[in-house]
Amino acid sequence: MGGVLYFIPIPKTDVNIVMKFSQFGNKFTKDSGITRLMNDLNQGLRTPGAIMLGGGNPAHIPEMDDYFQQILTDMTLSGQLNETLCNYDGPQGKNTLINALAQELREKLGWEIQPQNIALTNGSQSAFFYLFNLLAGRTEDGSIKRVLFPLAPEYIGYSDSGLDEGLFVANKPTIELLPNGQFKYHVDFDHLNISEDINLICVSRPTNPTGNVITDEELLRLDGLAQQHNIPLLIDNAYGVPFPGIIFSEATPLWNPNIILCMSLSKLGLPGSRCGIIIANEKIINAVSNMNGIISLAPGGVGPAIALEMIRRDDLFRLSQNVIQPFYKKRVNRVIEIIRRHMSEDRCLIHKPEGAIFLWLWFKNLPITTEVLYQRLKKRKVLMVPGHFFFPGLEHDWPHAHQCMRINYIPDEEKIEEGIRILSEEIEIAHREAEY
Ligand SMILES: Cc1ncc(COP(=O)(O)O)c(C=O)c1O
Repeated sequence: MGGVLYFIPIPKTDVNIVMKFSQFGNKFTKDSGITRLMNDLNQGLRTPGAIMLGGGNPAHIPEMDDYFQQILTDMTLSGQLNETLCNYDGPQGKNTLINALAQELREKLGWEIQPQNIALTNGSQSAFFYLFNLLAGRTEDGSIKRVLFPLAPEYIGYSDSGLDEGLFVANKPTIELLPNGQFKYHVDFDHLNISEDINLICVSRPTNPTGNVITDEELLRLDGLAQQHNIPLLIDNAYGVPFPGIIFSEATPLWNPNIILCMSLSKLGLPGSRCGIIIANEKIINAVSNMNGIISLAPGGVGPAIALEMIRRDDLFRLSQNVIQPFYKKRVNRVIEIIRRHMSEDRCLIHKPEGAIFLWLWFKNLPITTEVLYQRLKKRKVLMVPGHFFFPGLEHDWPHAHQCMRINYIPDEEKIEEGIRILSEEIEIAHREAEY
């Protein structure tokens, strides 16, 4: 007792502190378009009455929510949750899940997978950061290697993940016009240039933002090209089969030692568990494990523990097929009906919905860009994502990119209907303005 208390004066504000960031710091802290957009979307979430059709959160499917609640209760009572929370896993990730998943994939899909072919990450987003920078960027001999997206538009989340600038190259698609005001993108193999600097081909299947699922034929062709050029093919299977299974067209899952398959527990309904799963050859898995060790010691264990329990109960594939897939399929069809109630095929074409949680709308003759449309909609508290953000790696600006818009079809139908009504009004206003 009797000690003297000293107070260290705290500066009133820290905004004027002079601090120099590294090149890495500058690159990863700059205000990119996507940061601005994400802030908008986040703000939208907190604005009363806003209609949020922009984000990528999966649906809360009541049956899945109840299931997760029950599994967590059981895991708490059995001590499994405690066991997971109170221990580190190894840098490759929870080995009990890795062993069980390898066996599941061998038995159910016939893939030649061993535990040394699987590594876990904190969400698949961080897996892309690892893999892109592992395989692309400046090499020992000073040359630059790049990632090829064979089918733009592609996932916005890839855009800023390269340590080096100019890491990505994208190939424009061909567009097939379909009945009922729908269309579908295809890989334009005639213009697909796998130049010397390409060291990885990457495609999301189903694709965020479009809901496209590249066909088995296209996938096999890409696989063949990758093998021919001695480079891996990365398939981002965040929405795909066998889990979470948000696919409405025929699609055969594919893996071989030249394929890096990235999966995730997020769209199963567990985005907060931050669990990504990489299935690849041993060299890639060792590299990812080392990176995990350096960057995060070990990936988190709660998501993997839940997935393990789901496999033990034989529920992982079953719920994907019987609960998750039908929920999204029904929802997407309802939302297409809503769109068609408000907008004709002349005004709005819809990418064939083959999977994922988005609809991709093409306003072919729109006199304004979808960026301007986005700003006008924002003023009316409706948030959607303008198309041009989804073309990472595309060298030249493409008018088509400014005619498209992505909406998330998960919110309540009344909200979607109101959002679509306002969207169609704004489109009519833009057309009227152009006539005068
Ligand atoms: C195509 C695609 N890949 C990967 C991810 C990343 O998901 P996560 O990091 O939650 O596994 C997302 C998220 O929306 C996505 O849409």
